[in-house]
This record gives sequence, C-alpha cells and structure tokens, in this order.
Amino acid sequence: METVPVSPEPAVDLRPVAAKDEEFLWGWLHGTPDPEWKRWDAPYFHAGDTPVPDRSAFAVTHARHVEDRHRRIVAVDGASVGLVTRYEEAPAGGGWWELGILLFDPSRWGRGIGRRALAAWTDATFAETDAHLITLTSWSGNERMVACAQHAGYTSVARVPEARAWDGRRWDSVRLGLLRAEWQAARTPAADDAAPLTPPDIAFREGEVPAAEDLRRLYDAVGWSAYTQDMETLAAGVAGSSRVVTGWAGDVLVGLARVVSDGHTIAYLQDLLVDPAHQRRGIASELLRRVFAPYVHVRQHVLITDAEPGQRAFYEAAGFCEIRDGRSPGRAFVRFAA
Ligand SMILES: CC(C)(COP(=O)(O)OP(=O)(O)OC[C@H]1O[C@@H](n2cnc3c(N)ncnc32)[C@H](O)[C@@H]1OP(=O)(O)O)[C@@H](O)C(=O)NCCC(=O)NCCS
Repeated sequence: METVPVSPEPAVDLRPVAAKDEEFLWGWLHGTPDPEWKRWDAPYFHAGDTPVPDRSAFAVTHARHVEDRHRRIVAVDGASVGLVTRYEEAPAGGGWWELGILLFDPSRWGRGIGRRALAAWTDATFAETDAHLITLTSWSGNERMVACAQHAGYTSVARVPEARAWDGRRWDSVRLGLLRAEWQAARTPAADDAAPLTPPDIAFREGEVPAAEDLRRLYDAVGWSAYTQDMETLAAGVAGSSRVVTGWAGDVLVGLARVVSDGHTIAYLQDLLVDPAHQRRGIASELLRRVFAPYVHVRQHVLITDAEPGQRAFYEAAGFCEIRDGRSPGRAFVRFAA
C-alpha cells in the first residue's frame, strides 16, 4: 500500500546518520578552512593547532557512527544542515545526559531551525533513554545557543564565571538543563487550557497487547465491525504493530492507539479509538502523544481517517495537515483490498 506523507511544514527532521553522510560531515568538520561555526561552538577548543584527522581514519570513525542511536543528522526539507549528538555522563545508568547541536552553515542560523531540532532531540532523548536530566554546555558569548535552548524549554542551571579564554577576553561557561519532570509538565495542558486534562481514573499501558475479548469489546463499541468480523486478523495486527498504547478504566479497555513503523523514516498510525462512553476526556490526545513519543525524530507521521470534520480538527490540533491543503508535498494514494 502507498503511504501518505503528512508532516508539519517547514520540515525539520532528525534522521539517522548514513554511510552517504561521510562527504557532508567531512566537508564541514574538516574540509572547510576556518569555518564560522568554530567561532561559536566551544571556540576555546578549536583555537589551538587541532590536527586535521587522516581522511581514512575519519572514514573508519564515520562508519562507526552510521545508525548510531546517539546522533542524528538535522535535515531541513530533506537537505542535511547539521548534527545532534548525545552522551551519558558517568556513571552509566545515572540518568544524566548531555546533548550537542550544530548547524554548520551560518545562513541557516537564527531562523528557528535550532530550537525545533533541539526540541525534537530532547523529546527523542527522553523517549529513548532513561534520562532524568538533560544538559547542554555553552559559553556566555554564544547568545544564539542560549536563546535557542531557552526556546526549547531549557533554563540556565550553572554558570562558571570567566572559565573560558577566547578572543582576548574571558567568558563564563554556561550550562543549560531540563529535568524530565519539567519537560513532562510543559507538555501537559495547563488547567485553564481549552484541552481537557487526562482523566486520573485512566491508566495508560505501553507495549502491552490486550486480550482478543478486550479488543472485540472496544472495536465493537466504536462500530468498527469490519475489524471484529475477523478477530484472528485483528489480534494478529495489533500484536504485530510496532507500538501499542492502551488506556484502561480499571480492567476495562477504553482506548487504544497503534503505530506501524520502521523506526527511522515512517511512522503510520493505524488505529486510534476511544470507547464512546469515555470520549471528550483527553484520552485520545494522550494516546496519540504516547504512541508517537519514540518517533518524534521520524519525518513522516501518517494516517488515514474518516472524512468527518471532528477528525480533521483533532488531527490538525496535533500538527497533522491534509495533503489536499497543499502545505505538504506530493499526493496521497490508498488501495483497499476488495
Ligand atoms: C546554536 C545553534 C544550534 C542555534 O540554532 P538556530 O537555528 O540559530 O537557533 P534559533 O533560530 O532557534 O534561535 C536563535 C535565537 O538567537 C537569536 N539570535 C540570532 N542571532 C543572534 C545574534 N547574533 N546574537 C544573539 N542572538 C541572536 C535569535 O533571534 C533567536 O532568539 P529569539 O527568537 O528569542 O530572538 C546554531 O546557531 C548553530 O549551530 N551555531 C553554530 C554552532 C554552535 O554554536 N553550536 C552550539 C554549541 S554549544
């Protein structure tokens, strides 16, 4: 079946590092004499006579970074523009992760790309690791980095006065931080927000496939009888999904979202349904948020749904747009088996 590309515009993506990125990275990291970015990205380290690595040694290092889950290429409308990285501060398992971000070409700076890439990298790091705290380290002269991080939700958590010598004067070392609890609070609608709060009586479970009888009851409740006429296929489809998130009122299954994905380029929302007795309580929004959480770096979030106005408003509020509105490239095709 053809996929339907739907993504918010302009597209800023974080994609896995590929073998073909070697030229791009070599060019910006070592092949350009005195690049502007080195005057901003910890210039006190670049100021010395750092030797340019041997090209073949670089190729070996690059090969090790291909598909490295701790780094991604930043792409804008498909064009590679930068790199995001992360590492865990020792000791391993301590829950403290440090991120890095670099947009190589100055013509890309100051256009809001950094904050979007950093927000997505932050979401991905909280989703993909056990991070309790994420930090970024910069210096007082890099106001662009500090502002970019603040836009992405970080605050200044440490400042070491006059720690860095650069360009004939001394600068403060600046550390910006974001706790998981702060990140979660920022993503939860405020009490006076129009969006309903997630009901406290609903428990969400991730990665658990409900029993066939629970699936039947829920899918029947929303009238999706085409599914429940063949319970074996439905149960196998749910079990074979890349990610399943469910909502429970006690031991009653009242909501389900599932995504089929390759984990890198496409995340397809196959089902999102909430028992009518529990609709308009914020459960669907929470299911949607949770089911896509590990795929924030994936460029194409795609779905097909009914043509009702309510569906459109719901998905638009979540950042999706319809292909026919012309804000996303391409056409959408679908073929249903007879
Ligand atoms: C730091 C970096 C990732 C930020 O990305 P970006 O896309 O430029 O950031 P954004 O556009 O989202 O935000 C930049 C902010 O800095 C402001 N800004 C732009 N130019 C500025 C300047 N010359 N001085 C101070 N602030 C500036 C912008 O106005 C914006 O803040 P505002 O919206 O509140 O006005 C990017 O500029 C970069 O890669 N720089 C070179 C490498 C580097 O410094 N990396 C960080 C190492 S710690």
